[in-house]
Amino acid sequence: MEQLNAEQRAAVNALHRGELVAMPTETVYGLAADARNPEAVRRIFALKGRPVDHPVIVHLASALMLHDWAIDIPPAAHALAAACWPGPMTLVLKRAPNVDPVVTGGQDTIGLRVPRHPVAQSVLGAFGGGLAAPSANRFGHISPTNAAHVREEFPAGIAVILDGGDSEVGLESTIVDLSGTQPRLLRPGAITKAQLEAVIGPVLVPRRDDEGPRSSGRLASHYAPYTATFLVPREQLGGDAAVLALEPLPEGATGIALPRDATAYAKALYASLRTLDGMGRSRILIETPPDDPEWLAIRDRLHRAASSDAMPRD
Ligand code: TXA
Ligand code: MG
Repeated sequence: MEQLNAEQRAAVNALHRGELVAMPTETVYGLAADARNPEAVRRIFALKGRPVDHPVIVHLASALMLHDWAIDIPPAAHALAAACWPGPMTLVLKRAPNVDPVVTGGQDTIGLRVPRHPVAQSVLGAFGGGLAAPSANRFGHISPTNAAHVREEFPAGIAVILDGGDSEVGLESTIVDLSGTQPRLLRPGAITKAQLEAVIGPVLVPRRDDEGPRSSGRLASHYAPYTATFLVPREQLGGDAAVLALEPLPEGATGIALPRDATAYAKALYASLRTLDGMGRSRILIETPPDDPEWLAIRDRLHRAASSDAMPRD
């Protein structure tokens, strides 16, 4: 039996009762419910304000449970599971017939992930089943990377918010679709395309957001601050905007400078956007990140956070 502290035990009991629990993972915090309880899963959609046709990821304690949730599992799925789990990768597979469609947004595929955060591992182990858990933010808003951010997003409606510290990765998991004829990267994350390809060979990157299964993280306006946000070259940072620069902060600019290291930048990104959003400025200006492959997931999120790539000149 897993060693749980009192709060974690309360969380597991709440999950068994069909209530919602905020759970730390290594990527971002999740808003978890019993994936076998459609009423509980519906509570996630209601609290987030998330359209019901957007599927949620089911979190498992181990890859051994894949067969409870998916069918026609290809060898590539087992290879990726062995290489990347527990960790920041989600597999999209054909769903098993007994999975309630509320979990999959009515689709015939399901997203599955084994997270590596020790608190998520303990809770999943003690719970014993799958936990449906999208990121614990209001629909379209910035994902939370600590327990305080979850509380800010949802002052009420969550039975237990587990505090597992700052999320280690800071960006949502890499999503790989293995339900079709060729592997496809639906959402870039800390596990890179090159890492996936080293295990399973070529992975397609769909070019347009309207290709493939619906995936809310692929909507254009997502992961977004409330303040109008723009991606601009370094020379344009400044004025009365709240600025997110690469170190160092340009002279005269107000805001935050993040390290020129993709891993460190990713970890601090969402908390920084929240801080800038809270500064009450009329816009947020973000310095265009480097073009290298290891910045792909960051570029993806920044383009979705930005209201538009072109800054209005007023
Ligand atoms: O890192 C993460 O993945 C975090 C933590 C909590 O695990 N979760 C997360 O969940 O980001 P969410 O719901 O905010 O984003 C999950 C993405 C969505 O874009 C959803 O549409 C997509 O995964 N997804 C889930 N099931 C899918 C499926 N069957 N087919 C295509 N996309 C799917
Ligand atoms: Mg999300």
